[in-house]
Amino acid sequence: MPGTSTSNPPGGDSTSNDASSRNPIVIAANRLPVMRTDDGWAPSPGGLVRALLPMLRESGGTWVGWTGNSDDHVEPFHVDGVDLHPVPISEEEIELYYEGFSNDALWPLYHDALRDSTYDAAQWEAYRSVNERFAVTLANIAPTDATVWIHDYQLQLVPGMLREQRPDVTIGFFLHIPFPPYELFSRLPWREEIITGLLGCDLVGFQRPKGATNFIACAQQLLGVDAHDGIIENAEYQTRVDSFPISIDFGEVEEMAAGRATRKRTSQIRARLGDPEVIMLGVDRLDYTKGIGLRLQAFAQLLEDGRLDPERHVLVQVATPTREAVEHYKDERAQIERLVGEINGRFSRIGLPVVHYLYQTLPYDELIALYRAGDVMLVTPFRDGMNLVAKEYAAAHIDGDGVLVLSEFAGAADELTDAVLVNPHDNEALQDAILQAVAMHRHERRHRMAGLRDQIRKSDVQGWADRFLTALLHAGEAP
Ligand code: G6P
Repeated sequence: MPGTSTSNPPGGDSTSNDASSRNPIVIAANRLPVMRTDDGWAPSPGGLVRALLPMLRESGGTWVGWTGNSDDHVEPFHVDGVDLHPVPISEEEIELYYEGFSNDALWPLYHDALRDSTYDAAQWEAYRSVNERFAVTLANIAPTDATVWIHDYQLQLVPGMLREQRPDVTIGFFLHIPFPPYELFSRLPWREEIITGLLGCDLVGFQRPKGATNFIACAQQLLGVDAHDGIIENAEYQTRVDSFPISIDFGEVEEMAAGRATRKRTSQIRARLGDPEVIMLGVDRLDYTKGIGLRLQAFAQLLEDGRLDPERHVLVQVATPTREAVEHYKDERAQIERLVGEINGRFSRIGLPVVHYLYQTLPYDELIALYRAGDVMLVTPFRDGMNLVAKEYAAAHIDGDGVLVLSEFAGAADELTDAVLVNPHDNEALQDAILQAVAMHRHERRHRMAGLRDQIRKSDVQGWADRFLTALLHAGEAP
């Protein structure tokens, strides 16, 4: 039920048996869960893919999505025993549907309107038409009575379109990013269409309870629907609305972190950084929601005031390239790189920069080694659906040490209460949080890290997927 911080599905405990013994599962997401390699395709790294692929394999299901390249008319193929069904997207649609409506209208609007959205009818039309292509593909390939699980803001019209074509299938949707309050959402010129699209679902899942209540309020205000106990009444069926905080594959990260190769790489990294007393770490997609600039400014101010010492404290900032054609992202990158240059110009020594900035997509094993090397992890977004980096950092710290500084505005803050929680808009508070983390006594560090690790261990990504699918299975039942 919305309003609760954890979401137990109706019908009691969920188990992976329950979730995997169901009808075939068909997943739709903007991207397929694979990357092109020299020898063909390989699963993309990350917990979500690792949790969902085995379910698809066991249920004989399929994943529908885009390969990431324009006009890529690839026939359906298999990876690791899973059927993948590519949906082609043209170069013009990448500009209008992906860069445009998804990432220049919805993304900023859903993240507290941190940047202005562009509302453009041609972009909307492309969004509608790509969503239609996904819906038709799903309608054609989903077996009778299949469970269809649609993911994220790029595909919000698909549930409604699919229900019209295939009333036999059970439809779930999970939004990986925040859902905004009515005051912001109602700016969207196509607000009724988006809500109607999502109401094609039997179950709509959000990261946080607030996302669920925001969605219900928007549906009530914009469409006048009747809602009670987390259920919205449609003409002939109900849509259940709830929160399901996503997580990581704790065991996988822990295992990688414990490997010999990782340990060796972690020591090498520390040595290459000049064996400083404290390594601070930031790992983000280079996105204006992540608060990288204010984090750098807080670090710079602490150096300026002599409260941090460039001989003893260094910052490694990994910024993964993303959505590089979108103006707001170009601006953000330029600002961050100027700041890094300024800080290094002022505080570095020959051969020993104080900020190590990597604008690169690092391999997953390198990231895990970096997490292990990081004494203090700075996760300070202005708004974030969940933030899995925060969870990965704690899972990688098998030594039981390390401090997580975490924004109150990340979904992860609901669960990771043993982090040093901070309001990243308040630069003084951010500086204090960084200093608190750097100076924290070993006993407190270990105590907090144990709390973080317990929390993530007991609610990992497998549990998340099981809970969602079990709730979907029971969605049509009376509360
Ligand atoms: C966020 C979104 C995902 C998206 C990812 C990477 O996590 O919730 O849907 O796939 O960012 O962004 P990209 O635009 O590269 O797919």
